[in-house]
Amino acid sequence: MIAVMPPAKKVMLESRLQKRLRALGMATFSDYCDHVLGSEAGSGELVHMIDAVTTNKTDFFREPIHFQYLAETALPEFLEENAGPGKKKFSVWSAGCSSGEEPYTLAIVLGEFASQHPDFHYAIMATDISTRVLEKARLGIYDQHVVEGVPIVLKQKYFLRSKEREKGLVRVVPELRSQVSFQRVNLMEEHLSVPELVDAVFCRNVIIYFERATQHKLLNRLCGCLKTGGHLFLGHSETVHGFDLPLVRISSTIYRKVL
Ligand SMILES: C[S@@+](CC[C@H](N)C(=O)[O-])C[C@H]1O[C@@H](n2cnc3c(N)ncnc32)[C@H](O)[C@@H]1O
Repeated sequence: MIAVMPPAKKVMLESRLQKRLRALGMATFSDYCDHVLGSEAGSGELVHMIDAVTTNKTDFFREPIHFQYLAETALPEFLEENAGPGKKKFSVWSAGCSSGEEPYTLAIVLGEFASQHPDFHYAIMATDISTRVLEKARLGIYDQHVVEGVPIVLKQKYFLRSKEREKGLVRVVPELRSQVSFQRVNLMEEHLSVPELVDAVFCRNVIIYFERATQHKLLNRLCGCLKTGGHLFLGHSETVHGFDLPLVRISSTIYRKVL
């Protein structure tokens, strides 16, 4: 699958790649393309190229309505349907997780729900194409201002302040970090390596960067990774409108898989 950048993004792309050209001592974008596409050494550069061109904006509790829907509707329903012996785990995939704010928010919400419902168990997988953001996500260290929007009680419970106060850093507590398994997955690959079907996919503010045909193919494959009745969460400016997909609409950005 190929993602195509519209000509309007050329200037943005060039400015993001300038740093790589400087690092490699290259004078022109044509030299850089030859290096990346035409040489064996260039394939190693791909990782840096992807890191440079991806847009990684994210936040804790971004689009809070999704987490409210999980806690108040999806999780109680799941628990009711999966009560009794041989209980299943609720599995969620943060696809395009950036630096970890989204999956750690999921870990907080699911952890809070589990503390009130001891029968509830869960697993969180978080993936991204960029190794740089995955490294940051695994570390779980953030500037203090990044967690400003997290409710105070949750902040005190799930974040540790750096001993060196002047650094202004916080770290996600180890118990929360251990709940999320991070790995590199390119959503453009034809076969997404998801170990098993999941109950929910958060793929928010990712497809917005792809052209429509690519969006359709990706959404189809994400549906293939969902259990029947599983939920798909998209970003606020993303939609499945006009695509033929096995989904029913719950709200403008929340869908459920049918069949
Ligand atoms: C704007 S961030 C969104 C982060 C988070 N989902 C949120 O809504 O806050 C988009 C993320 O998608 C990732 N991404 C872009 N193309 C991708 C691809 N082909 N495969 C996997 N991840 C991709 C980027 O690296 C980036 O971290």
